[in-house]
Amino acid sequence: MAKTKKSTYHKNFKTSDSKLNKDTTDQNPILEVRDLKKLYQMGQMTLVALDSIQLKIYSGQFIVILGASGSGKSTLLNLIGGLDKPSEGLVLFRGNDIHKGDDEDLTRFRREHVGFVFQFYNLIPSLTALENIQLVTDLKSDSMNESEALDIVGVLDRKDHFPSQLSGGQQQRVAIARAIVKKPEIILCDEPTGALDFKTGRLVLEALSNVNKDLGTTTIIITHNESISEIADRIIRIKDGRIFSDDRNTKKKQIDEISW
Ligand SMILES: Nc1ncnc2c1ncn2[C@@H]1O[C@H](COP(=O)(O)OP(=O)(O)OP(=O)(O)O)[C@@H](O)[C@H]1O
Ligand SMILES: [Mg+2]
Repeated sequence: MAKTKKSTYHKNFKTSDSKLNKDTTDQNPILEVRDLKKLYQMGQMTLVALDSIQLKIYSGQFIVILGASGSGKSTLLNLIGGLDKPSEGLVLFRGNDIHKGDDEDLTRFRREHVGFVFQFYNLIPSLTALENIQLVTDLKSDSMNESEALDIVGVLDRKDHFPSQLSGGQQQRVAIARAIVKKPEIILCDEPTGALDFKTGRLVLEALSNVNKDLGTTTIIITHNESISEIADRIIRIKDGRIFSDDRNTKKKQIDEISW
């Protein structure tokens, strides 16, 4: 049994700033990245996966990150979510450096504040949809009800089905329910529609958008799909490990207005 230790992040924890205007920058960022760098040593060669990344992300924003394969998108998301450690620079969550503590602190940060959604849903095949979600709620005391999470993403009627009995889109929505059930402030999605057809992909985006609107969850989605960026509040483009552009989307579309 892992020993429990008081979180260093809770002292600045606030729950209601999703009500603030997410487009204003006069509030404190929920996440801030300063001079972030990630290097990989490949024999004699040093590969610079990310360099000089500066970012301020505000509570409630719905952000899409675009960039060519190998540009550093997943590396950035993994550093922001505490799945990996930077070579240099800081990732601040509500002003606290998430990489400052030990592995246990980082695990606690992920568990309490971040939900992850990946391209391949990573559900446990021998557990039903509901049981897959219960695994997470067992780890956090103030989670929402499992059925409520499944309802938000529109798959409550499938709660007793095993992953093999669900379509790709349904499995991904169960994965989103699993990510949101612990009421994280941030949800990080790495190509969540990458394995899905257009119609199913839109259902998944709808689920993510509803979570963002209803719960105010700060949402970051990585995609190769330019169309998906049209529904974002903010579009960040990464090129060769650097931020190439970072724009507010003034022509934000509804999900039923986009296609690919
Ligand atoms: N563990 C690792 N060891 C060595 N190099 C790595 C490692 N992880 C990523 N890289 C390299 O870092 C760079 C950025 O990779 P990353 O996975 O972030 O790209 P990406 O933008 O997510 O690409 P894709 O769109 O194909 O998923 C690439 O050149 C990749 O080969
Ligand atoms: Mg990637």
